[in-house]
Amino acid sequence: MTAVRIDVGNLMAPRLAGGVEPQRLRGELSDTFRAAFAEMERRREAGELGFLDLPYRTELVREVTAVADGFGQWFEDVAVLGIGGSGLGAESLRDALLGPYWNAMSDEERDHYPRLHILDNPDPHTFRGLMARLDPARTLFNVVSKSGATAETMALYLAVRDRLDESVGPDKARGHLLFTTDHRRGALRRIGEEEGIPMLPVPENVGGRFSVLSPVGLLPAAVTGVDVDALLAGAAAMEQRCREPELLENPAGLLATLLYDAEVRGGRPIHVLMPYADRLRTLTFWFQQLWAESLGKKRRADGSAHIHGPTPVAALGAVDQHSLLQLFVEGPPDKVILFMEVEDHGQEVPIPVRHPDVPEVAYLGGHTLEGLLHTERRATAEALRREGRPNATVLVPTIDAHAMGQLYMFFQMATVLAGALYDVDPLDQPGVELGKQLTYGLMGREGVEVPEIPDPDPEWVV
Ligand code: PA5
Repeated sequence: MTAVRIDVGNLMAPRLAGGVEPQRLRGELSDTFRAAFAEMERRREAGELGFLDLPYRTELVREVTAVADGFGQWFEDVAVLGIGGSGLGAESLRDALLGPYWNAMSDEERDHYPRLHILDNPDPHTFRGLMARLDPARTLFNVVSKSGATAETMALYLAVRDRLDESVGPDKARGHLLFTTDHRRGALRRIGEEEGIPMLPVPENVGGRFSVLSPVGLLPAAVTGVDVDALLAGAAAMEQRCREPELLENPAGLLATLLYDAEVRGGRPIHVLMPYADRLRTLTFWFQQLWAESLGKKRRADGSAHIHGPTPVAALGAVDQHSLLQLFVEGPPDKVILFMEVEDHGQEVPIPVRHPDVPEVAYLGGHTLEGLLHTERRATAEALRREGRPNATVLVPTIDAHAMGQLYMFFQMATVLAGALYDVDPLDQPGVELGKQLTYGLMGREGVEVPEIPDPDPEWVV
């Protein structure tokens, strides 16, 4: 199996004007990283970083595959109801490994594995649109919520439950539900236990955005035929490579340290992830959530006040060369672009030779679509470099389960290491609590005070 690697050459001096001096990387930055690494290891030993153990939790894999290979295969459609970390992992896995057209394929093309839908936003149009296309009698609804109390997911569950009761009857409805939730607590677990609904556990020390390699992501993957052993083997391989205190040998450490340095020293707090592959587009949304929710904080890890956090931006090559790139090349020098290059797309589409007398078209003949993507990524990286704009490239050998496992572990470890570098707790998200409490109050949840929110002032509604 080939390793995912990272090419940081376009962040380094002298190649990049104003880039990181190699001796700084080997000296000061290596020392800074070593302290962050020690903090990660301290938290690992304290049992706080459950995601690091997931590749080795064979009992969880057995539980997942028993469900996926057993009653999971009775269904034509699987709908995941989950938001944030409880939906984005499954979505990114589906798009990367099954392809963006999975749900449009025939049963034969899908080898009779079910279609996979992700329902995250409680948007009534999306909900009705999906329900109109599903036969509840042939659908499994996988309700995914670590807390078991997220308003959006619970509302979708209730709406689904009514429809299930109507179409298959209250008794059979249970056989169309699967709850993935905290292994001990929460309202969803309570409902599941009371009603005898099958459940999969999310380990206590695995938070939402670090849960893709737990049953949260593994069940949707396994039920659609993804090789979860290869996925976890890839994650394990990356986890082992990143158990390395030497900065230059630790890919996740290198990414975290250079992005951190680009911000605090180089004034570049915007971190763009830009793969040149449609199948990795939803991975950029997964990364965006991971990086933003983990690192955007108003307090240091010790609780003292300190507003900080890089802004992740999801982009796609080559599409955003015709949208965002102008800003990246000539706009404020506040960004680092992290490209992703898929070395072998596994598909070759030759570009035919035609119109030899039209030079604007003729030069393309004889190449391939894959070759064009590679060339555009290289050319764009070089254009940025020449303008003094720092960029790096994650090299992905090919998009398969092993590589995806590596990528998830790579970005998750980089996030925890970046948390230590920024001196914030990457595992919490206190900033989203107030909005949740206000929503509960406005929606009339028992025990929560109805908040006073001023009505719109007509003077300011234009
Ligand atoms: O990363 C996180 O913790 C969040 O994004 C959660 O995944 C998201 O809020 C959904 O939470 P839950 O799984 O509890 O429904």
